[in-house]
Amino acid sequence: MNKQRVYIRGTGSYAPEKILTNADLEKMVDTTDEWIVTRSGIRERHISSDDQATSDMASPAALRACEAAGVEPKDLDAIVVGTATSDRLFPSTAVVVQANIGAVNAAAFDVSAACSGFIYGLSVGKALLHDGQAKTVLVIGAETLTKVTDWTDRSSCVLFGDGSGAVVLQMTDEEDRGILSLNTGSDGRLQELLFQPAGGSRMPASHETVDRRLHTIKMEGREVYKHAVTCMSEAAQKALDDAGYAGPDLDWLFPHQANIRIMEAVAKRIRVPRERVFVNLDRYGNTSAASIPIALDEAVRGGHCGPGSLIELVAFGAGFTWAAAMVRL
Ligand code: ACO
Repeated sequence: MNKQRVYIRGTGSYAPEKILTNADLEKMVDTTDEWIVTRSGIRERHISSDDQATSDMASPAALRACEAAGVEPKDLDAIVVGTATSDRLFPSTAVVVQANIGAVNAAAFDVSAACSGFIYGLSVGKALLHDGQAKTVLVIGAETLTKVTDWTDRSSCVLFGDGSGAVVLQMTDEEDRGILSLNTGSDGRLQELLFQPAGGSRMPASHETVDRRLHTIKMEGREVYKHAVTCMSEAAQKALDDAGYAGPDLDWLFPHQANIRIMEAVAKRIRVPRERVFVNLDRYGNTSAASIPIALDEAVRGGHCGPGSLIELVAFGAGFTWAAAMVRL
């Protein structure tokens, strides 16, 4: 039987020019390069400039993905942006991208699932394609986390960076190609372990919220760490099982680039050798929803993977949310 699947036709990414190193952070808070590298694996991160918003990360990544896929922006039927740092609370970042790239025929909207936003976006794009509502979908993960970072909090400000990655999705009837399995999950009881307290309807902006720095990321690092390892391992194993594969079969594992220790612990639990874990966190930090598509684009453009490669994507983020997908490129 001819079974159509959704596949990744092209990838693209963008990171802002400005780089903030651990040495720069040593001058801003009480920390050391050695602490940051051993605890997180991060050495430097890209930082947006004052006049750059999330759509300015997303739009060049989108154009690069379209170019790689051989698709014109006007051919896009939908643009889905996973982000936790939208340009504005409304309208969505996706409509800004739509206008920027001239995707006049696309429906455009954001998905809010924090660091899992890109895989959640894939899940939505996949459904739109299977349903026949769209023939070509652009899924983007884009963030400017450094705009909501508390630069006085050394336990979180050393972790985050900015950037964007994008993929163009279409259907294929090639045997054993495309998204082979995908799962998503969340646990809203844990929402206050990682959140931005003010700016929404629960706590609208006021002089007090600004004075108390409540428009920035608040995080219980140790708790996040613990749940991240468990949830990512379970989601990754489920995606493997659902697709009929085991960890050692993977050409590459693309875990959300949050912390090298989390990534290695997950790989170990699902039996993926360390050398097949794709890591670029040392140069980008944690770019939330952008981290997986940036890593994927780097791997594709660097010749590390391509058509036929068996890869797995797995993410975890605020909510908590988690998601995993098995893909044959
Ligand atoms: N420099 C130096 N010392 C520091 C720093 C710093 N930047 N930050 C914290 N410390 C100190 C702490 O104050 C603490 O000191 P104490 O023992 O005297 O109290 C000590 O280092 C150890 O702190 P811990 O928080 O226990 O350190 P841990 O080993 O847990 O590492 C980290 C902290 C890196 C934040 C880790 O918990 C982590 O990565 N958690 C997950 C965070 C994450 O990935 N969040 C995002 C995931 S979801 C998403 O991407 C949005």
